[in-house]
Amino acid sequence: MGSVDPCTYTLSSNESVLVRTAAPDDAAGIIHVMKDVFEERDYHLSVPDDFKGTEEEQQAWIQKFIDDPGKLMLVAEKDGVVVAVLEFENDYRQRMKHRGTVWISILRDMRSRDLGTALGISGWRWVQNNPLIEKVYMHVLHTNTRSLGLCKKMGFVEEARLHHDVKLGPGQYADVVILSQHARPHELAQVPPVTAPSPARENGAVEKHA
Ligand SMILES: CC(C)(COP(=O)(O)OP(=O)(O)OC[C@H]1O[C@@H](n2cnc3c(N)ncnc32)[C@H](O)[C@@H]1OP(=O)(O)O)[C@@H](O)C(=O)NCCC(=O)NCCS
Repeated sequence: MGSVDPCTYTLSSNESVLVRTAAPDDAAGIIHVMKDVFEERDYHLSVPDDFKGTEEEQQAWIQKFIDDPGKLMLVAEKDGVVVAVLEFENDYRQRMKHRGTVWISILRDMRSRDLGTALGISGWRWVQNNPLIEKVYMHVLHTNTRSLGLCKKMGFVEEARLHHDVKLGPGQYADVVILSQHARPHELAQVPPVTAPSPARENGAVEKHA
């Protein structure tokens, strides 16, 4: 089950926010945050037209995150209003379940005051205490300075860059920077690399190449 203990943070603006696991009743608040971020059009892969989910569908989506041990959805609440969302989703395939991607979305007027950092701390604590999750990715547009700053502050390092991957508009492309971090790198250091198996050859037959 994807959940954390609720935690109150004091932001650099002196505002107090509660970071907690999202509940189905948060659906409307979460939709409001997502629309605010998508309307900005600058930093997300999605635009408002991509987000057509109803409140009922959002409720079901939240419940899926609550029920699945490899997924986590957090909200930050200020004075009872949802102002930010963190989603972590692992892969459904057996060999990829140990890794997943995290997204953070914060209302425009709540940024640059440590809220992303607060959500990152709560989310990372969950990852480190979840034996299922070993590696976390963030996918960030190269133009998203604030998000890249948050990733680096949280210890993520650039692993790959997909050039001209997102078409922002005619003749306008952004790179996607893929950053990652291992949950427990000391455990990984003890794992020997897998060696490549030699190709099977029947009766000593030699492979022929055209
Ligand atoms: C990206 C985002 C999650 C960052 O959250 P935030 O609350 O604004 O960030 P924080 O205040 O916690 O700052 C974290 C780091 O971001 C960087 N940062 C924050 N504000 C910045 C600004 N105005 N300019 C440049 N870098 C900035 C800094 O590196 C900062 O670290 P520092 O505190 O050591 O200086 C938030 O701005 C957001 O939701 N943006 C729109 C959606 C998005 O881009 N999501 C990311 C895709 S995963």
